[in-house]
Amino acid sequence: KKLVVMASGRGSNFATILDYIAKGEINGKVTALIVDKACGAEKIARENNIPVFKLKDKEFSQELIEILNKVSPHYILLAGFMRILKKEVVDCYKNKIINIHPSLLPAFPGLNAIHQALDYGVKVTGCTVHFVDNKLDHGPIIAQEAVTIAESDCVKSLLVKIQQKEHKLYPQVVKLLCKDKITIKNRTVYVKEE
Ligand code: GRF
Repeated sequence: KKLVVMASGRGSNFATILDYIAKGEINGKVTALIVDKACGAEKIARENNIPVFKLKDKEFSQELIEILNKVSPHYILLAGFMRILKKEVVDCYKNKIINIHPSLLPAFPGLNAIHQALDYGVKVTGCTVHFVDNKLDHGPIIAQEAVTIAESDCVKSLLVKIQQKEHKLYPQVVKLLCKDKITIKNRTVYVKEE
């Protein structure tokens, strides 16, 4: 399967997906990385000879649709992409865009999810992989993993714990997607485990 990754940050989720592909655990290929600024993910793509597209406009929907039409991916994986995709993009790729979010949705959508969880005082948080729809961090949920919050946790320590889970959960979902093991009906996602 042809995969496109979109990122704005460090790119640790992107890197783990590439690792799984290299190990032969994901039957797919990242054919492009799309970024909105210079970032760690971009560096990882260049080291792996993956073409990088940098969005230029603030209003980037048209530009993005043109890139996606050219690359024609089976799936678009958001991995720390910090901009919201507009309806015209999401509608073109219905149930083909996946995101990972650092909370147990529907709790703590939007920015600073880890900060929000600590501020609220929840005892359990985690990460969620979901399809992208037209509301922020709202699309059908594919998989979640929980993380227990310790009294000593701060944003930094909790981020480490959540990312450890993310780095297993996201590649696992991508693996199943590439094997056509994930289907969706309305808001319910069915996963055929191996
Ligand atoms: C992840 O924690 C993900 O949940 C959020 O953005 C972060 C990206 O981290 N959407 P990285 O760039 O993959 O290291």
